[in-house]
Amino acid sequence: MSTLFTPIKIGKMEVKNRFVHSATYEAMALETGEVTDDMIKRYSNLAKGEIGLITPGFMYVQPLGKAFKYQTAIYSDEMITGLRKLVEAVHQEGGKIAFQLVHAGLQTFDAITGQSPLAPSKKIRNPMSLKKPEEMKEEEIQEAIKAFAKAANRAGEAGADAVQFHGAHGFLISEFLSPFFNRRKDSWGGSDENRFRFLKEVFQESRKALPDEMPILIKMNTNDFTPKTGVTPELAKKYAGWLVELGINGVELSCGTHFTFHTTRGEIPADEFLKGAVKLGLPKWMKFLAKLSFKKLAPKCSFEEGYNLAAAKVIKPVLGEIPLMIVGGMRRIKHMEEVLENKFADLISISRPLIREPFLIKKFREGKTEEASCVSCNKCLAAIFNNLPVRCYNDGLPV
Ligand SMILES: Cc1cc2nc3c(=O)[nH]c(=O)nc-3n(C[C@H](O)[C@H](O)[C@H](O)COP(=O)(O)O)c2cc1C
Repeated sequence: MSTLFTPIKIGKMEVKNRFVHSATYEAMALETGEVTDDMIKRYSNLAKGEIGLITPGFMYVQPLGKAFKYQTAIYSDEMITGLRKLVEAVHQEGGKIAFQLVHAGLQTFDAITGQSPLAPSKKIRNPMSLKKPEEMKEEEIQEAIKAFAKAANRAGEAGADAVQFHGAHGFLISEFLSPFFNRRKDSWGGSDENRFRFLKEVFQESRKALPDEMPILIKMNTNDFTPKTGVTPELAKKYAGWLVELGINGVELSCGTHFTFHTTRGEIPADEFLKGAVKLGLPKWMKFLAKLSFKKLAPKCSFEEGYNLAAAKVIKPVLGEIPLMIVGGMRRIKHMEEVLENKFADLISISRPLIREPFLIKKFREGKTEEASCVSCNKCLAAIFNNLPVRCYNDGLPV
């Protein structure tokens, strides 16, 4: 039998195969953050599709860390009942579920949070709204750390099998880690150790707030691809080594921020995307310039199979026995098998193909297909920026 369908342990959690549903914001929660029946249906269906570990879309740990209108909240105990239903739906179909916890940092909008976004430093503007964030004060940093730990505790209360910190894609944790975003000169910046401190304290406080057997995972960037140097594979390797020392149980490797389209390499549906971006706060006069910059970006962000693998190979050696999940452009079963056989990664993490084909993994197992039919048109991504629930919009967006 293919290694892809053999179980693996992530910390003390056993996952039945090597497939992970990478966190995918679904734009399906209530505006107040509660889980809806549509979400439950979506994840029940994905679990029926035999994915070993499912990570729903990122959940915000503080109201001012909310990134999108219909994002799931985990900042208050009132959310636990709904979150528990989500967990039960996945468990009922034999799947495991990890909650991804996020604070948006500067990658949000006044229209979403009702206030200026917070970030490690005020120098870097939100690439979409061009707004400068407020620099976080010491007490705001401490509050954010506590909010992550409390959210982790709620994930445990809701029965989730694991938590994953969103340390990738230019959100708050990723901003602290990045020399591009983090220009602080105090004990939260200025050196790699100091830039790592926020994540370290988030990890340590959350570990205390969780049962011992509950794994903590991280999604982190191998490469920020920001206008000036941010996280690089070498720096990510250093951070990964420190996470192993702290006791991390699994590492998912990704890349990119809202400055580019490296996270979701493929086509750039400029018109659809910009329509949503203007509603979120992109100044109208920027549309023309943004389109030009998308044109320039397109060749660098065009699709490539397994596009984070080369960087992951730099990081893998420091992980030792800690499972590595690789995300980004994993499409063909033969290729996935090679990745596992060569020990480049331990699990295959997938987002867009599962939006189009929730039963893809089952189809792989039954030998009904060898390759995902997703063409990485990125219209699903444009959809969420237009507040449309996630699905395959390859035929066009109703906007
Ligand atoms: C619609 C959409 C929503 C996403 N939401 C999240 C998210 O909530 N958290 C996250 O870490 N990544 C998110 N991503 C990124 C994916 O998890 C994944 O890293 C990326 O799409 C590359 O993997 P793929 O080639 O399998 O799609 C999202 C991507 C898409 C297309």
